[in-house]
Amino acid sequence: MKTKKQISGWKDKILFTPGPLTTSQTVKQAMLRDLGSRDSEFIGSVKDIRHKLVELGQADTDEYTTVLMQGSGTFGLEAVVSSTVPPDGKLLVIINGAYGKRLVKIASILKIDTVTLEYPENTTPDLREIENTLKTDKDITNVSVVHCETTTGIINPIREIGEFVVKSGAKYFVDAMSSFGAVPVNLAECNIDYLVSSANKCIEGMPGFSFVLCKLNSLKETVGYARSLSFDLLSQYQGLEKNGQFRFTPPTHVLAAFRQALAELEAEGGVPGRAERYRKNYETLIAGMRQMGFREYIRPEDQGYIITSFLYPDDPNFSFEKFYESLNQKDYVIYPGKVSDANCFRIGNIGRIFEADIKALLAAIRETIAEMGVKLK
Ligand SMILES: Cc1ncc(COP(=O)(O)O)c(C=O)c1O
Repeated sequence: MKTKKQISGWKDKILFTPGPLTTSQTVKQAMLRDLGSRDSEFIGSVKDIRHKLVELGQADTDEYTTVLMQGSGTFGLEAVVSSTVPPDGKLLVIINGAYGKRLVKIASILKIDTVTLEYPENTTPDLREIENTLKTDKDITNVSVVHCETTTGIINPIREIGEFVVKSGAKYFVDAMSSFGAVPVNLAECNIDYLVSSANKCIEGMPGFSFVLCKLNSLKETVGYARSLSFDLLSQYQGLEKNGQFRFTPPTHVLAAFRQALAELEAEGGVPGRAERYRKNYETLIAGMRQMGFREYIRPEDQGYIITSFLYPDDPNFSFEKFYESLNQKDYVIYPGKVSDANCFRIGNIGRIFEADIKALLAAIRETIAEMGVKLK
């Protein structure tokens, strides 16, 4: 059997990042075909992908649908914000990290009336405050929150927030970019109207499109809400329903890879199977990092198994740039921190990586720390 090195002609680095992620050879190989956007095989594959994504959200296709959107994850978020808030609507954004802030930025460029509830990056949102805000501010028409705040790896309580949102009559939008496919979610039980994720996160496809899981009744109410042509979620849905085609050139190769990625997810035991592998990766990582003396930024009870933020060691010999570069030379790619009040770096557990890869990374970190002369305890 050919090794990874022989097939690609170069040695792939292992990506311990929140995306782009390490993907399987078979997912990459699925792209090696040209398919026309009006080809019946392509149209059938798009239909299948849309259907399977609804199933991954534990929902029924009578109640929910999938709208595929060209571009990275942010394009999907922008599609929801720009085309599901009514022209005179008001958006509440719950923030505890950079991706919550990005939603506010999108809304502000679109000149959408926005209120925020902002919490420290290492803290989950205050549910009582959210409940009270929704009870008192009757102008709020839409509420958004990030599921796994990839800034830190914290997991936000989307089910509890959804209960308050549905009682208030507002529409509920969850950015589940880095969690969908690996953290189980039941769309209907969480009262979600719109959920966004993208091809190259926990489903382990290629980057190039995002998808929006939409509650059909809510989507159909959005006639005339869209603030732009390409991000018009309802028109994109109507186009896909009419003839199975995208309105504009689809990422055909990326969709072919995604179909293969979905088959590999199913073979792994679906969302529970993938969750188990990522959780194992996480537990191995945490145990090894703690043993070396590293400390996490988030309390273990709030931390998900997607990505972890570690505090810089308290030693003047530590330099993140040198640490990163040395690991990179050893073919392991980690990620810089994103929190505003502490010096951290991040290590992701998602993508086509296994416990053996995590153990190899831990060995490389141990070696690098020794090379740098950093003392951790
Ligand atoms: C929670 C969350 N939201 C939004 C994004 C932005 O996605 P993209 O970089 O694909 O546009 C990311 C990317 O990691 C994310 O983790």
